[in-house]
Amino acid sequence: MNVHHANPNDLEAILAVPDIDPDVVAHAVTDNADAIFTWDYSLQRPRLRTLYEKAKTGQWNGTTDLDWDTDVDLERQIAGDQTEGKVAVGIEPGLYDDTVIGSWGEKEWLEFGVQNRKWTMSQFLHGEQGALLCTSKIVETVPWYDAKLYAATQVVDEARHVEVFGRYLDEKMGGGYHVNTHMQLLLDDIIEDSRWDMTYLGMQIMVEGLALAAFGFMHQMTSEPLLKKLLRYVMSDEARHVAFGVLSLKEAYDEMSDAEMFERQQFAYEAAIHMRDRFLSQEVWQTMGVAPRDVLPIVMRDPTRVLFQQMLFSKVVPNCKKLGLLDRNDEWLRRRFEEMGVIHFEDLDDTAEEYATFALNADSSAATE
Ligand SMILES: [Fe+2]
Ligand SMILES: [Fe+2]
Repeated sequence: MNVHHANPNDLEAILAVPDIDPDVVAHAVTDNADAIFTWDYSLQRPRLRTLYEKAKTGQWNGTTDLDWDTDVDLERQIAGDQTEGKVAVGIEPGLYDDTVIGSWGEKEWLEFGVQNRKWTMSQFLHGEQGALLCTSKIVETVPWYDAKLYAATQVVDEARHVEVFGRYLDEKMGGGYHVNTHMQLLLDDIIEDSRWDMTYLGMQIMVEGLALAAFGFMHQMTSEPLLKKLLRYVMSDEARHVAFGVLSLKEAYDEMSDAEMFERQQFAYEAAIHMRDRFLSQEVWQTMGVAPRDVLPIVMRDPTRVLFQQMLFSKVVPNCKKLGLLDRNDEWLRRRFEEMGVIHFEDLDDTAEEYATFALNADSSAATE
């Protein structure tokens, strides 16, 4: 994987990555991998088989379990979600008084909030498609029978996630945004890698670990009942997916040499940088008629945003620790996570331990929220 800039905090380098052409409908990536048959159908990995059983009983139907008749007034919704004095996600309006958006009033900040929500939901949608493709690749490439069975259930889960985010954007938000260029680079890098464990590391550990935190944040923040329930349902699947990654890679990584582990540590770090860069949401500023470079230097220092960005890694860091990725090779990844200001999450529960708490029947609120 390549991070396309040497200094990860260089804004000009981040902005130099060209935008995706919104008129391009299909995007081909070579996935460089063998499809592996196994003739060993015996039960080798009971914890993966337990996950498989949970996946079968945890299925839900996006068509009938969500109330699509819910009337969503987007502006009123966003205005309500913004009453904390912060705009939707991670922007502190007062900081921008001396910038090109210093003259923005309530109307502009509300529009920014609406666009930001559309953009965020769109990137969730595109990420879900990434998960769909990655997981179908895992069905082919993982050498273990128990893992192929589980991955097959995840393919169905991801189809459902693409379905519900796509439908919500179409029916309740009036359409969305094209894939963010940093998101596309990350998904390409994950799919292109020939090694089966890298698909898991990029998708189940990094992308889905971050998604689990981001969905949780939006679930907490919004009072829109359809969105809240949609997110709650998706999270119940997503926690299982991350657990699948942790359980599978733990076994694979315990046997790896330092040199092999170093490649995984670098891959995880580069994925983290791509994920951080996409959250600069350049396209939202462009839609608002603002050149990203006129505001992003302040956005990157905005304490509200910095906190939000760190929170996104609250699931990723403990899972990396569980896999032994933090401390191999003279604590290489630990140092990088220290620089990113996210190492303090390392001792939170890892997702292999806590996934059951996300199950739909784990709390009584799931049915009503
Ligand atoms: Fe998903
Ligand atoms: Fe997932």
